[in-house]
Amino acid sequence: MSGPFQLSARALSLKPSSTVAVSSRALELRRQGIDVISMSVGEPDFDTPAHVKAAAIHAIESGKTKYTAVSGIAELREAISAKFTRENGLNHAPDAVTVTSGGKQALFNAFFALLNPGDEVLIPAPYWVSYPEMVAFTGAVPVPVPTTPESGFMLDPGVLEALVTPRTRMIVLNSPGNPTGAVFPPEVLQAVAELAQRHSLTIVSDEMYEHLVYDAEQVSIGRYAPEHTLTVNGASKAYAMTGWRIGYAGGPKGVIAAMNAIQSQSTSNASSVSQYAALAALEQHEETARFVEMARNAYRERRDFIVAGLNALGLPTPTPQGAFYVMTDITSIHPGELEAARIILDDARVAVVPGTDFGAPGQVRLSYAAGMDTLAEVLRRIGGVVSR
Ligand SMILES: Cc1ncc(COP(=O)(O)O)c(C=O)c1O
Repeated sequence: MSGPFQLSARALSLKPSSTVAVSSRALELRRQGIDVISMSVGEPDFDTPAHVKAAAIHAIESGKTKYTAVSGIAELREAISAKFTRENGLNHAPDAVTVTSGGKQALFNAFFALLNPGDEVLIPAPYWVSYPEMVAFTGAVPVPVPTTPESGFMLDPGVLEALVTPRTRMIVLNSPGNPTGAVFPPEVLQAVAELAQRHSLTIVSDEMYEHLVYDAEQVSIGRYAPEHTLTVNGASKAYAMTGWRIGYAGGPKGVIAAMNAIQSQSTSNASSVSQYAALAALEQHEETARFVEMARNAYRERRDFIVAGLNALGLPTPTPQGAFYVMTDITSIHPGELEAARIILDDARVAVVPGTDFGAPGQVRLSYAAGMDTLAEVLRRIGGVVSR
């Protein structure tokens, strides 16, 4: 680009996503009237619960439509503080909590509040694509920590510790994880907490998928290293509220204050109406728990179905313990995951995400947040490609 608009070095440093090639091809096929099933979206297919919607409507009608405090309305911060105690065994007073526009903004604010150029950040791989991109955006250096499909992508604290250098500042944990669905058990979290204490590291624990666990228990690492941990969560995945854009974080007051200062100069506050909706989800938590239970049971059934189906097709797929994604080894279709995703799209008309950007070569990610009929059709279509 030349002339009066010159893109900044920062904007140019953002890596173009390799998933774009596949998603634009999917759009093109759809435009041609070809029916493509998308297994690439990272959001629940359920509608937002009725009591949450009703609270938002009430908020609009009663004029709760103005700026709020940067950190969020006091009632919501109190409800989040109570939630941390009730569900996670964490102790964050309301003034040690901040509300953001989605979990993504909580992570963004946290990285900008805590990282300097050259700092190293350990991120278990495969990882959610936004972690290394956001970390690099601050000038810090993302350092992937390898895990293997054979272990169900389990984090090995020894492998993690071997990568610690004098420049290491932070560990990003995401359990249950996107894209792996791995859930780290208490002994792994305890070991990571201890090594964070030994090396004086910050832990950012992204617990967006905490309620979507099937055969495992989700535990917050903040229980083991409270002085080292910033816990990030939000309404998007658990309460089917992706479009409402509510995230939050709890941690040391000084860090929360710095995150608020950053937010005050960018988006100010999360949408007031959405904050009242999230308040209903947290305050009416028994009603919300019934919704979460219904969704969890549906996801479990879908997971069992898609994992069994893909393995039966000869595509090795470990059983994830949480979230709503599976990682599948597609090297029998093509050794390169980008090419394999293209073949699956062109020949099976199913859109999947190549593992390239997740740090997962030879794998693709499928989201099973879709009805059973759709999943059956997906298996039938991919089966056609495999048999060819
Ligand atoms: C691991 C993980 N963290 C955070 C987010 C962001 O959630 P939100 O939509 O609330 O910004 C996502 C969304 O895909 C995610 O997968």
